[in-house]
Amino acid sequence: MRKPLIAGNWKLHKTLNEARDLASSLAENLADVEAVEIVVAPVFTALTTVAAEIKSSPVKLAAQNCYPEETGAFTGEVSPLLLKDAGCEYIIIGHSERRQLMGETDHFINQKLIKVLEAGLKPILCIGETLQERETDQMLEVLTTQVKDGLANLSATHMANVVIAYEPVWAIGTGKTASNEQAQEAHSFIRGLLQGVFTPEVALSTRILYGGSVKPNNVDGLMAQDDIDGALVGGASLKAEDFIRLVRFEK
Ligand code: 13P
Repeated sequence: MRKPLIAGNWKLHKTLNEARDLASSLAENLADVEAVEIVVAPVFTALTTVAAEIKSSPVKLAAQNCYPEETGAFTGEVSPLLLKDAGCEYIIIGHSERRQLMGETDHFINQKLIKVLEAGLKPILCIGETLQERETDQMLEVLTTQVKDGLANLSATHMANVVIAYEPVWAIGTGKTASNEQAQEAHSFIRGLLQGVFTPEVALSTRILYGGSVKPNNVDGLMAQDDIDGALVGGASLKAEDFIRLVRFEK
């Protein structure tokens, strides 16, 4: 009932030529994939270039961020509407790097999420605890706040288009993946939160991705967990061979 989703977050990497090469290799080598949804999120400047490369393939386009206004005097910002115009279907919202480096709050993230949905796009809401929060037993509290405040004012109907990504901050770019058990425990807790905030149906149908050092050598174990519906991948999404292996995970 929940179609697996493997998403590559390219972060601040790849020139236009590099992005074109990677996108074309993915489009060619993943042309036959139907059972898994595939998404790539290049930098803003590469969106239309990548869109052209993946046009006739199953690979879909995401942006890494947006601003919660349609148009106006917001120098340097990009709106969901313009990202849709550029070919995006998904937008990553509230990545921990933006929370930490740009000071994004749950309230601001919630505003973005609502605008993304209004534009007819699908938000991938990132949540996750820091190492210090985990070690001081605040993990569940942090996840609860991020889910409740991040998804404030949304209806069960909206949730059909929302994807959640659990990315423990201590596992991002560190090579330290959460163990299968740690990831499953957090995912199951998040699904329980969705049941409380929305309905059992929403909890059952919402996809929850795991992110944080997902690699070809650990993807199979993670994807075998009951509540893990996919992956949001940084480093290993930058190499065609690795990302292709992730999409072709084995259960
Ligand atoms: P890594 O896969 O490089 O740890 O990054 C994870 C991430 O932040 C994806 O959004």
